[in-house]
Amino acid sequence: MTNKYMYFVANWKMFGNLKTLNSLNKVVTFIKKFKKNKFRLIYCPPMTLLYPLAKKFKLSPIDVGGQNCHENENYGAYTGQVNPKMLRDTGAKYVILGHSENRQLGENDSLINKKIKSALKSGLKIIFCIGETFKQKKDKKTKKILMSQLSNGLKNIKSKKNILIAYEPVWAIGSGIIPKKGELVETIQLIKKKVKGSKVLYGGSVNSKNIEYLKKISNVDGFLIGGSSQVSNNLIDIIKKTFN
Ligand code: PGA
Repeated sequence: MTNKYMYFVANWKMFGNLKTLNSLNKVVTFIKKFKKNKFRLIYCPPMTLLYPLAKKFKLSPIDVGGQNCHENENYGAYTGQVNPKMLRDTGAKYVILGHSENRQLGENDSLINKKIKSALKSGLKIIFCIGETFKQKKDKKTKKILMSQLSNGLKNIKSKKNILIAYEPVWAIGSGIIPKKGELVETIQLIKKKVKGSKVLYGGSVNSKNIEYLKKISNVDGFLIGGSSQVSNNLIDIIKKTFN
């Protein structure tokens, strides 16, 4: 049972269509009734669903966020890209940046840093993802990698108050494997020491079963949930169990 203010971020990745949104009526009803504790729920659907989802959640406290954006905050000739201003225009309040699936496609720390700055300027809140690969963990480089992702990604950003950090070990994403409690507490502590006053979420294979274990991580401020966030009942279960 936790009494802390918690964040739940649903990362739908490249899943979902207009029909899927009907399944979220359940979540809206649940949130209305579940007044037990303080928490924030943020849905990050694909770009195509941002506007309809923001409209759907208009009268509820649920927020909407993008999964990435271009580094240029202005309009421009960038075919296929969406800038942070455009995200704001859909009703989005957040954006996930630095996700390992985008790092794997070639995004480096310097590009992520530009994106964070530009999204902050446009008034978005950031969910900034960091995490080590399995090889880096095996080579005992976790601390070094995380510290450099934080230093470079947050370079020249004075106020971090609109940035949530999501620690997502790459090897835990979609694998069903989660870090050991001690390891996780220690890593979150390291991150909080490096970025004073930061809120740190955990992401990677969070589900309605292992949440009983993960909620006991004393210094975690919430969860970034991929696969399990696509089924409304699973997400509702995760939230309920966190506070039970
Ligand atoms: P997962 O994804 O919960 O499916 O492991 C988490 C993420 O990639 O954000």
